[in-house]
Amino acid sequence: MPKKENLIKIAIDSPAAAGAGTLAKTISKYYNLLYLDTGKIYRLIAFIKINQKKKFNKKFLRKKIQKLNLKSLQNKNLLSDEVGNEASLIAKDKYIRKLVYSFQIQCAYKPPKKFNGSCLDGRDITYKIIPDADLKFFITANLKTRARRRYLELKNLKKNVSYSEILKSIKNRDKIDYNRRISPLKKTEDSILINTSKLSKRACFLKIKKIIDSKINS
Ligand code: C5P
Repeated sequence: MPKKENLIKIAIDSPAAAGAGTLAKTISKYYNLLYLDTGKIYRLIAFIKINQKKKFNKKFLRKKIQKLNLKSLQNKNLLSDEVGNEASLIAKDKYIRKLVYSFQIQCAYKPPKKFNGSCLDGRDITYKIIPDADLKFFITANLKTRARRRYLELKNLKKNVSYSEILKSIKNRDKIDYNRRISPLKKTEDSILINTSKLSKRACFLKIKKIIDSKINS
């Protein structure tokens, strides 16, 4: 690994349920990087909006975001499909994106000293949050595979969901995330494409590990 002063920064963008989160977590653990799932920030705001509708305004939200920390993103309620759908709607808001920008920058560029660097995943990480990342990945999988994975994940959490409902909402989220005007999901030219449709978690990790190792040892 590079010396402490040469923090390694990994940026990942991906559509919903492509396996980026699992992969990013594994990479972060292996290389001792601070991991931030930026989707959870938008999910937290969506959760607040759903549950505190009456109080939800700019000032209220600003105060909540000032108190944002990694622990507050671990709430299991953030994983529901309802929250995911609302997250993709509120994520179109310029004011909200601006509010959450500095938290992401702090995690990416100033992770606590115990880490060798950072790894962030989301929709605009490779070109807006960490444009100078050492490694950039665009992780994707075909729609049906993503829907099946998300369905099983939610079933495991004992959520009452149907496959067709999940397929529909992932399709809808793709449409919103790829086509919005502000910070759309896209693969940048300098990102490495990883299609996880036919790969096991282990195979994905090994593929990415090989790329990272060759970069940090070069
Ligand atoms: O990654 P996840 O599915 O949890 O993200 C929920 C929603 O948050 C996405 O559909 C997307 O609209 C939004 N998001 C975003 N920018 C990010 C991460 C997530 O707009 N960096």
